[in-house]
Amino acid sequence: MARHWMFIFLFIVLLSEVSTDIGLKVSYYTQKLDHFQHQESRTFQQRFVVNDTLWAGAKSGAPIIVLFGGIADDMYDPSIYGVLTFSAVKFEAMLVSIEHRFYGESIPMNSIDLAMADHRTRDCLSVKQALQDFAEIVHSLKANWSAHNSPVIVVGMGYAGALATWFRLMYPEIAIGALASSTPLSYYGSTTPRDGYCSIVSRDFQDMDKTCYKAIYDSWKDIDDVALERHGLAKLDQFFNTCRPLKSSEEVKQKLAQLYSMTAQYVDPYNTSMSSVCIELTARRTSIEGSVSVLYRELEGGKGKCFQSDLIQVYSPFEPSSNSTAAWAWLRCNELIFPVGCEHNTMLPSCPFNITRMENSCLERFGIVPHPRTPIDLFGSQNLKESLTKLGGNIIFSNGLRDPFSSGGILKNLSNTITAITTSQGSYCWDMRLIGDNDPEWLKIGRDKELEIFSQWINHFHHINKGHSLSVCSIFIYFFLLEYIAFYICTYLS
Ligand SMILES: *[C@@H]1O[C@H](CO)[C@@H](O)[C@H](O)[C@H]1NC(C)=O
Ligand SMILES: *[C@@H]1O[C@H](CO)[C@@H](O)[C@H](O)[C@H]1NC(C)=O
Ligand SMILES: *[C@@H]1O[C@H](CO)[C@@H](O)[C@H](O)[C@H]1NC(C)=O
Ligand SMILES: *[C@@H]1O[C@H](CO)[C@@H](O)[C@H](O)[C@H]1NC(C)=O
Ligand SMILES: *[C@@H]1O[C@H](CO)[C@@H](O)[C@H](O)[C@H]1NC(C)=O
Ligand SMILES: *[C@@H]1O[C@H](CO)[C@@H](O)[C@H](O)[C@H]1NC(C)=O
Repeated sequence: MARHWMFIFLFIVLLSEVSTDIGLKVSYYTQKLDHFQHQESRTFQQRFVVNDTLWAGAKSGAPIIVLFGGIADDMYDPSIYGVLTFSAVKFEAMLVSIEHRFYGESIPMNSIDLAMADHRTRDCLSVKQALQDFAEIVHSLKANWSAHNSPVIVVGMGYAGALATWFRLMYPEIAIGALASSTPLSYYGSTTPRDGYCSIVSRDFQDMDKTCYKAIYDSWKDIDDVALERHGLAKLDQFFNTCRPLKSSEEVKQKLAQLYSMTAQYVDPYNTSMSSVCIELTARRTSIEGSVSVLYRELEGGKGKCFQSDLIQVYSPFEPSSNSTAAWAWLRCNELIFPVGCEHNTMLPSCPFNITRMENSCLERFGIVPHPRTPIDLFGSQNLKESLTKLGGNIIFSNGLRDPFSSGGILKNLSNTITAITTSQGSYCWDMRLIGDNDPEWLKIGRDKELEIFSQWINHFHHINKGHSLSVCSIFIYFFLLEYIAFYICTYLS
């Protein structure tokens, strides 16, 4: 059991945060803190990683695949992600990964506490600034490697996939295309509450194991019943090994809901993580709240930690807890409102998105009222589909339909060049998985579709470039001929 948990969390860790002690070339770029206000002259060091092991070089115009960092504090090693590694092999590409400002080591003032406490610094945490950072580094990298003929494709997962999409729209001359993996694009910047996330978590459990689904469904009442007993909350404190006394059973319920959600979101193609949760839940050692708390101990107790109930919830109105999570909370308050909540009709406790609660929370913490729609405003359009199709092309949206975030994803082809690749069996960032020979067939098929599209973009780029060089060449020949004729006429006439 503990091993299964290790597996899930190893995978989550692999997808979100990867350590750098594996011979990667880590570099730092001196980045402007504010790209748009010239009186602000401060800078910070932005971390990035280059893997040129398989790169065929600038002369052959071999592509550069750039992975944008998201809200993780550890550096992404690009070579552990499926579609990136396969691209490196297929196209002899360079792999680059760039950390997002205010995360990991790319933190202004060298301290997230100081950076978040100073409003002039904090204001520089925005989508536009982050996009400009990526543009500066890619530009500088291409110049330093003389890689002017190397096309660039940008890639991101989740929120970073939205960045890749926006990057392609804003800097089409830098990136020939973008891949957004498991990006719930329609969630950002809207205030319309959404509950699709929890419905999919629910459906995943139901499809997998109906008994398990029912056990979870019933467990909430059991937990509430315990809480109502005499010293009930103290009993729950003990069951769950809490760090501080619980204020209500709601805290435990939300935390459990988050655990089930993560299990569904990151489920592997072989269902290992979900099966192990379900085996534990349906074993019914003594009672369901007993099983549920055993699950917890396996998870938190194994690491010698007590249970923190005040983490940011994936889907609920957030409760920022520390300065490192404050960066994401700030982005969500300032630009990327994420109106995801659970309605009554799922197996998870109901917790609808409440804009008033969110506004109060943002006001209290940062003194600002959320500005919805900002990321869409960047492109001067109120309508997501329109802003995508009007402004550009060459974007792939990939979604696994078992991923709860697919409820906010682009699941249909919007044009000839804005392509949706969906797999009914995939979960969060399925195309980034690197299993190797054991990859299931559906995964290989989906990934090959993406590589085929990359290949079309790259060929098109080289075709145009060649066309360009040809036309420059023909102008030379033309002038040469003219001169020759003129010379001929002149000598003939004289
Ligand atoms: C660079 O990427 C390639 C392809 O993914 C991988 O085989 C190689 O191990 C990576 N090199 C390093 C130093 O990580
Ligand atoms: C490019 O070279 C300059 C000068 O050495 C350096 O300051 C800069 O950081 C380099 N850029 C990248 C992306 O490596
Ligand atoms: C995993 O579970 C899904 C249903 O939730 C099922 O369609 C799929 O076949 C299972 N995969 C394996 C390898 O058992
Ligand atoms: C965040 O940083 C501020 C300023 O340094 C500090 O006062 C505060 O305690 C920090 N908050 C947390 C939760 O660490
Ligand atoms: C939303 O939150 C506010 C403030 O916390 C609360 O007063 C209100 O009742 C909530 N609305 C709903 C529909 O739950
Ligand atoms: C979108 O078009 C591509 C071919 O360009 C196809 O492979 C893919 O299945 C289509 N996506 C959807 C969701 O129909």
